[in-house]
Amino acid sequence: MLVQRQLFDSETSTYTYLLWDEITREAAIIDSVASHLDRDLRLLDELELKLQYVLETHIHADHTTGAGKLRVDTGAKVVLHKNSRASCADLLVTDGEVLYLGIESIQIIHTPGHTDADICLRVDGAVFTGDTLLIRGCGRTDFQSGDAGKLYDSITSKLYTLANSTLVYPGHDYNGVSYSTIGEEKKHNPRLGGNRSRTIFVHIMETLDLEPPQKIEQAVPHNLNCGLMKVS
Ligand SMILES: [Fe+2]
Repeated sequence: MLVQRQLFDSETSTYTYLLWDEITREAAIIDSVASHLDRDLRLLDELELKLQYVLETHIHADHTTGAGKLRVDTGAKVVLHKNSRASCADLLVTDGEVLYLGIESIQIIHTPGHTDADICLRVDGAVFTGDTLLIRGCGRTDFQSGDAGKLYDSITSKLYTLANSTLVYPGHDYNGVSYSTIGEEKKHNPRLGGNRSRTIFVHIMETLDLEPPQKIEQAVPHNLNCGLMKVS
């Protein structure tokens, strides 16, 4: 079983995760935030971990990724879904691909809907859901090729088929909660729990009327370049 550590960016309520194999010390980081590069590098050093993969669940619109800088400092490979068309990535992955830390696996689950390039990452006993499935919520679907119907299908046909006991670690939380389970979300998620229909879910998402993320104009081009491009 992989060891995991949850890290937090309070400015954007973003969770970053560090996973590692206890025996080989090989590690992966999920959704790093550029402003926490020093924290993450220090932790890797203190825990004597060898960073192999920098995984991005999608091209973020609300913060700049630390992926490119982490690669420069550690030699790790940057991993994104192929639909991101991010030329900076070392690996453009597709649904079902598996990465390894020692003998422990990380399975890629393509979950389009929030964007068309979202992935969730399944490990033994847990799934890291990015902005696809949040605790009692889900990612928005009104920009970056978002599609509410596809998000419903991704969550109900891929994530909700995992065991109810599977731990859910989201990309954000705005209410001070750190994780959930698939069983809890199937029952209590107000948008798509309790067997809510696809039609009702799409209606909910289409009538949210949200403000765009404040940094979207800078964050998206930055993140298509792994956070390394200078944007004036
Ligand atoms: Fe997002």
